Amino acid sequence: MTHRIQTLNAISPIGLGRLPRDQYDVGNDLTDPDALLLRSADLHSRSIPDSVLAVARAGAGTNNIPIADLSARGIPVFNTPGANANAVKELVLAGLLLAARNIVPAWAFAHELAGDDAEINTAVEAGKKQFAGFELPGRTLGVIGLGAIGVLVANAAQALGMKVLGYDPQLTVDRAWQLSAEVEQATSLDDLFTRSDAITVHVPLVEGTKGLVNAERLAMMKPSPVLLNFARGGIVDEAAVLSALDDGRLRAYVCDFPSASLNAHPKVVALPHLGASTGEAEENCAVMAADQLRGYLEDGT
Ligand code: MLT
Repeated sequence: MTHRIQTLNAISPIGLGRLPRDQYDVGNDLTDPDALLLRSADLHSRSIPDSVLAVARAGAGTNNIPIADLSARGIPVFNTPGANANAVKELVLAGLLLAARNIVPAWAFAHELAGDDAEINTAVEAGKKQFAGFELPGRTLGVIGLGAIGVLVANAAQALGMKVLGYDPQLTVDRAWQLSAEVEQATSLDDLFTRSDAITVHVPLVEGTKGLVNAERLAMMKPSPVLLNFARGGIVDEAAVLSALDDGRLRAYVCDFPSASLNAHPKVVALPHLGASTGEAEENCAVMAADQLRGYLEDGT
């Protein structure tokens, strides 16, 4: 029997290679597909044909998928938690380091310098003071959400000499085992906000996490902290962050979700949703998603 899988985004060919051509028709223009395979396409705004038996997302988050509607129709949704965790962790660390050392504004300053080398050197000596940063050892990183990504970030930050405070009321036993023994558990979110020099968010966007980083919590933080958000934009109250940046309470906001107001702010670095954009992560996610669809369509597992 040939299965028909409609792809709604570009999916790594290595992943698609897991679906043998003699058993699978795979393409973006199929009608009456048995399954949908996607990355960030928004399924909320599409009608899903009755022929669809399963949906797989090559990625961890599922906020682009109407899970409740699909469950009501008996259609399982697969995702790929962990498959891109290392890629996200590396970008979070890059974000932390670039905020600590003012790399983006410093690069913009240097890039604009004109004249001969002597003039550039004079301007560098005159201008560099404004970009002095801070070092990580001894600083406290608050990690909200200790799933696959949060645990990797916590362990890496700890290895860089940071104190790490984690918070996840649903910490699984598996994840707890993966966590460095030095990572301390915050007693509450407020405890984490009060004690952190930098905070990174690693929870999914669901009803209970919308606006979790808000004005009240930002006001609890130590002076001049850094906020990192490589999870989803809606977890952070953007207006509250912009106001905290404006009045100097927040040093920098580094995130993976540009918007008109974030892009216009000099203390924001907003990347174009690049957390999972490495060849390795795209391949891992596509392989896992394809294998899940195959298992379901062929064996019902
Ligand atoms: C994820 O949820 O894991 C990411 O959004 C994946 C992606 O960037 O496609």
